Parts: sequence; C-alpha cells; structure tokens
Amino acid sequence: MFGAIDAQKHRSPMPRNCTFAENDWLILAGFWHPVIYSHDVSDKPQRARLLDVDLVVYRTGEGIAAARDICPHRGTRLSQGKVAGDNIICPMHGLHFAADGRCTRIPSLGDKKVLPPKLRLQSCLVEERYGLVWVCLAAEPIHPLPEWEGFSDPALKKLFLPSDVWRAAASRHVENFNDLAHFPFVHEGSFGGDKNAGIPKHTVEKTPAGLRFDVLYHEGANRFQDGVEGTERDVKYIYELTYPFSTLLIMLPDQSSERYYLADAVCPESAHVSRVFQIMTDTAGMPNPEYWLQDQSFINAEDKPMVEEQKPEDLPLDLSAEMHIPADKVSVEYRRGLVSRFGLGGAMAS
Ligand code: FES
Ligand SMILES: [Fe+2]
Repeated sequence: MFGAIDAQKHRSPMPRNCTFAENDWLILAGFWHPVIYSHDVSDKPQRARLLDVDLVVYRTGEGIAAARDICPHRGTRLSQGKVAGDNIICPMHGLHFAADGRCTRIPSLGDKKVLPPKLRLQSCLVEERYGLVWVCLAAEPIHPLPEWEGFSDPALKKLFLPSDVWRAAASRHVENFNDLAHFPFVHEGSFGGDKNAGIPKHTVEKTPAGLRFDVLYHEGANRFQDGVEGTERDVKYIYELTYPFSTLLIMLPDQSSERYYLADAVCPESAHVSRVFQIMTDTAGMPNPEYWLQDQSFINAEDKPMVEEQKPEDLPLDLSAEMHIPADKVSVEYRRGLVSRFGLGGAMAS
C-alpha cells in the first residue's frame, strides 16, 4: 500500500524489482544499448524498456530525447503525455520538462514562475546511429558505440527487421549469434552445412570494442541471389562483436564481389527478456528486401526456441560451470571478456 520511508532507496539508480544482480546492473548501465528504431520515434512519446527501467523516447524541435518514464511530481508515466515544442508535458498536472530534464512550467502556479530546480526528469544520454536509438543510463558511457562498416553509408539501402522480443538473456542471444557449431543442426532447414564437416579453423582476436574472427563456411544452400549457380555456397564470414550485446556479421559469398551485412543488436529489457534488432544491407543495393526479410526471419525462428529454453537463464560466467568443446572459442572468450574487461558476474563492490 505504501512505499517505505527509506532515503537510501530513493537515491539508488536501480529500478524496483530489478531482475539483475546489483553489480551487473551498475556495470551494464554504463554501456550504450539500442532501445528502439529511429523510424519509430516521433513527437508522440514512445515507450521502451532497458535494464528493467521504463523509458520514454520522443523527438522535440531540438532532437531526440530519452528519460525515465516517470514524472517526478506524482509518478505518472510521461509516455501518456505529449510533446509541445521542445518540452514533454505530463498528462496529470501539465508540468513541462525540457529535454535536459529541467521543469520549465507548472501550470498550477499561475503567474508565479519560481520553478524548483530539484523538479527534474531523470533524462538519459541518447544517441542515434545506424537507424537505432541508443541509451546509456549512467552519467558517462564506459564503452563506445559499435562501429559498423556499411551502415553509415546512406547510399546503401537498409532493411530493418521488425524488433523481436526473446525471452532469454541478451548474452545467450549473443553467444548463439556468434556460434558456428549449431548451424548444421539448428539451421538444417535453411543454410546449415554438413553435420560432420567440423568447424573450419579460425582465430578469435580481441579488439578494443570486443572480439573479431573470420571463417570460411560451406553453407548447405545458395541463398545469395547474385546469379552464381549452385545449390551450396562457400561464404566467408567476418564477425565483429562489440561488448556487451552487438555483433556485425559481414558475409562474402564466393565468386561474388558484393558484401552482405547483418547487424544484430540486443536490448536487455530485463535479465531474461531481450529485444532483438537486426538491420541488413549489402553493396548490391538490396534489390529484394522481401526475400531477405523472409530468409532472416526463418533463420531467427530456428534459433529462438532453442535459446529461449537454455538453462540456466543467466549466462554462466564461471567457466567451470559448463563444459566447453573446441568449437566454443568465441563463447569462452566472450564470457572471459565480460568478466575480465568489465567485471560482470562479480560480487558487489562495497
Ligand atoms: S504527476 Fe506529472 S505533473 Fe503531476
Ligand atoms: Fe543460428
């Protein structure tokens, strides 16, 4: 019925009913995360969820803005309000807030213009890149946004797959996206290759952003519509993982001079619910986006039920908690990096 009188609690940036360990939440709050596609944001406030925090995202005359979706006056959801000029207006008592969070008007004050400086929205750092809106919940980001070749080129047509909610940890999705050994089994019905061929040799390189590896894979289908004959295809894959949850996959089919790009960026809405954003582009001009939408949606539908049922739901960062095989090089390096580079999975520092 009543919230506790506990000043400490009110100072904590962590959301109520947080599903993350406190240590992990505080670290993850320092990264940029994708929360919504740019094309879905207008002057009509939109809702998003990041790390168990409800957000409102909107455009004003000054640009894009994001804030915690709660009015500091009486806790109303600002996403139920509206934008006027450079302000968002709370639907309950009409308080106006600028994009930097300042309260700029209290209608019930009448002509009096004394605005309490403490009456502020909890606004968030926000950036738009590659057609995505990225939010950082901390005061300063601890890691840069991904650098995605191909996606900053406005000349290349982009396909934005509808965002999809996976009931799985973002890290589980990332591991699956970067895992080659599941292709012949999970993707038997699409591009998976020979089950007994073994994983081609590849080296996982640590980069400032995350991990990188390239590998030549023999796909069991020829899904690149570039006129090259054949029912199967050798494809060079280049994977570039940016911590914590974004991966760029560059695909170079043999006998083709074109480059195909698939960017996968995951929003950890909560510890076990993730919103997956995927954007595709290619140097061929993406003549048939419907084909790629269908192809990639089919592939995702093969992966999703597997990943959603993996146990434990939390990615085990203690390497002794699961068995590893030589094909797990990327997964092992990913887990190591989350711990050694950022301190995830650690005990709460006092
Ligand atoms: S609750 Fe938002 S203005 Fe009162
Ligand atoms: Fe897959």
